[in-house]
Amino acid sequence: MPPSAGNLRKVLANHPDACAVLVTSPDYFGTCPDLLSLVMVTHEAGRPFLVDEAHGAHLCFSNGSLPAAAMDAGADACVQSAHKTLPALTQGAYLHLGQGAGRWSWLAAQTARQSGVPSIDRQFGEHVRQCLSLYQTSSPSLMIGASLDFARAFMNRHGAAAIESTLAAISRFGQSLPAGLRCSTVSRQLPDGIWRDPLRVVIDVIESGTTGIDISSQLSELGIDVEMADYRRLVLIPDLISAHDTLPALAEILGKICKRQLSGKAELMRDASAIWELSRKDWSLYRQLSTPPDFGQQPAFPLLSGRPTQAVPLDQAAGAVSAGALIPYPPGIALVWPGEVLTSDTLAKLQDLIDNGFCLHGIRLEGGIESLSVAI
Ligand SMILES: Cc1ncc(COP(=O)(O)O)c(C=O)c1O
Repeated sequence: MPPSAGNLRKVLANHPDACAVLVTSPDYFGTCPDLLSLVMVTHEAGRPFLVDEAHGAHLCFSNGSLPAAAMDAGADACVQSAHKTLPALTQGAYLHLGQGAGRWSWLAAQTARQSGVPSIDRQFGEHVRQCLSLYQTSSPSLMIGASLDFARAFMNRHGAAAIESTLAAISRFGQSLPAGLRCSTVSRQLPDGIWRDPLRVVIDVIESGTTGIDISSQLSELGIDVEMADYRRLVLIPDLISAHDTLPALAEILGKICKRQLSGKAELMRDASAIWELSRKDWSLYRQLSTPPDFGQQPAFPLLSGRPTQAVPLDQAAGAVSAGALIPYPPGIALVWPGEVLTSDTLAKLQDLIDNGFCLHGIRLEGGIESLSVAI
């Protein structure tokens, strides 16, 4: 769950050296924190508020049916992956700076702390431009640029209507799902001012007798790729132009998959309690992802030192130093970093993910055995 304003106030009080607050909103499942309150708390503490709005480029175009967009809530800067939710080419993204951002920049906060008077960083935009040049290519794609322009113009003219008609299509989709599958289609307000973006379709499969990963691979065989699947859920991002055609077809296919799944008790792979048990593993995975790793070597060392590496079967790698990153997808965050000492606990978790159909970047099959690369 995202932080509440009260949590954030405490964290900022305990970390006087924090130079900014960065939140992800919405997250992969469409959950959005109470941005207005978080912005207020952050600005009271004199820090800039930054938002990873990769999944929310569409929010600012709605007429009030969706959670607040970062810049509308007063954020100082946000990045949006336009390609995720708008009609833009893959890689197309926007970086927005707030009008008052110079007041809350890190430099302004430092100057104010040293001099004791409020300060404005008038060069804020220029600093951001300079930093951007460190990361940007010197050969930008004009096609991607043009698609960003198209997406902006399209949303400006048709965005509000497209959002409403997609919401209606999602609502019909929710009602036509087969027994065993459920999805929330409303923008509910949860405790602590947390909202859900109803354009992010999260299908709960817990009562279907199978996992989200199983259903996703059956869909994949039919040429349908979902955005993400884990033990308990399927995540879809309907596009704003054709959802009213694609979602009914998808509901029909899901109906067939579930019917096949439920056609004989013997074919039921797992019951709901077993899937709950598996979904608890999702949480333990996410907890482990947020635990600082124990590095045996600096992460760059095995990558850049040119020292030899060796492929070792997973069950023989305990105590070795990983030469590469091992990344379960989803969520696409490294569970093991290069240079990290591999513990038997972590290796058991990796094996468990493999056994349950997760895609794991960094693991390869050597003579039919799952292996990883270690530093020697
Ligand atoms: C929360 C979040 N931030 C950033 C990114 C990266 O975005 P992009 O693919 O546009 O680089 C992703 C990608 O899925 C994401 O989920």
